[in-house]
Amino acid sequence: MSTNINKPSLPVSKPLTLGLFGFGVVGKGLYDVLQSTPALQASIKKICIKTPDKKRAISQNHFTTSSEELLNDDSINVIVELIDDADAAYEIVKAALKKGKAVVSANKKMIAAHFEELLQLQHEYKTAFLYEGSCCASIPIIRNLEEYYDNDLLTSVKGIVNGSTNYILTKIFENDLSFKDALLQAQQLGFAESDPSLDIEGHDAANKLTILLAHAFGNIATPNDFIYNGITSIKKTDTILAHEKHLKIKLVATAQKINNNQLAAFVLPQFVEANDELSNVSNEFNGLITESSFADKHFFKGKGAGAYPTAAAVLSDISALRYDYKYEYKKYLQPNKLTLTNDYFLKIFVSADDLEKINKDDFEWIEEWHNEASNNWVIGIIHATKLQENDWWKQTGVSLILHQNPIVNNVEYKKIGKRSLQLAGVI
Ligand code: HSE
Repeated sequence: MSTNINKPSLPVSKPLTLGLFGFGVVGKGLYDVLQSTPALQASIKKICIKTPDKKRAISQNHFTTSSEELLNDDSINVIVELIDDADAAYEIVKAALKKGKAVVSANKKMIAAHFEELLQLQHEYKTAFLYEGSCCASIPIIRNLEEYYDNDLLTSVKGIVNGSTNYILTKIFENDLSFKDALLQAQQLGFAESDPSLDIEGHDAANKLTILLAHAFGNIATPNDFIYNGITSIKKTDTILAHEKHLKIKLVATAQKINNNQLAAFVLPQFVEANDELSNVSNEFNGLITESSFADKHFFKGKGAGAYPTAAAVLSDISALRYDYKYEYKKYLQPNKLTLTNDYFLKIFVSADDLEKINKDDFEWIEEWHNEASNNWVIGIIHATKLQENDWWKQTGVSLILHQNPIVNNVEYKKIGKRSLQLAGVI
């Protein structure tokens, strides 16, 4: 056997000196993870924190409260932003990119709110801004959407993108825990946001859907552009009904191509059948299903919240920076992108403690109608604009849960119109 083969040598990697903002659940997680990966040759030079008096696991001389100390230090070539204040995070990221430093962040709220400007800054200052940890924590979805699905024609990306709400729903369904106790556990385990209403009201999942829309379809949107809600309105009677029908309820984010040039997007609780991949995504796990013309279907599952799963994604971004990796946003830059629309029909279940709270006139078609003293529900077809424009379905005592196959064929229901309601004697 010949031993004279010229082996390729490893590409030369850049040494990375990090300035870390934030030492909360994920910041501390990253610190620990970096201690276990010396081969990465990335070291934290300084950590900027807000509250200096807090007792911390490592020596005080690692910390400063001056953001300038990190931003003005030329030896720091990477800023890692892991704080929970989206506005402050935006200022830090902007300043760092303007100084030509690469930035890694996991701040989905900040990214969703400033997507276009952040794109512009990366382009103008030719710096990398990576944020794999901002969406589904340990699932490498952004990198896959950027690289693997580059030439493939994606038709849909949907799944469970918030770990806390999935944890709560799992505990309610499988352990009969109360919503309050399950949320408390999610907070204690470090899954929830500092302000947990971001999780339970669906804002966090909506922010993540905007990130998915950008990388999957090149579509820059804000959560206000699509319908979303969280899980706070789901009632005991809804979960009992789901059990009876052998279904689970999951908070599902969906981006789906609905015709040649349009895209539907929403985040809503949804009934999920036992044979759906998402049915077995439990606790803080997230799960994503991509569908595309040639590859067909892929299913990604991984821990979607918590110190180490999120730190793992941040670490992967830091590692990619050693070889100057940048997102290219090819789908955003290409012409003829799909347009986000609310012109589609959804099959929904709506329950209410008082029948009067359900706006029957908004439905195109009512398939089932159940009327009891304190448990009234309707299954029917509604146009998405009715949900976007009206908020009767967000009142206390009303819950809206999507059918297991929520998007229905536009044309069919446009033809039928309101006739079914009249025939059923509802209007
Ligand atoms: N609060 C978030 C969640 C953290 O529960 O998914 C991870 O983004």
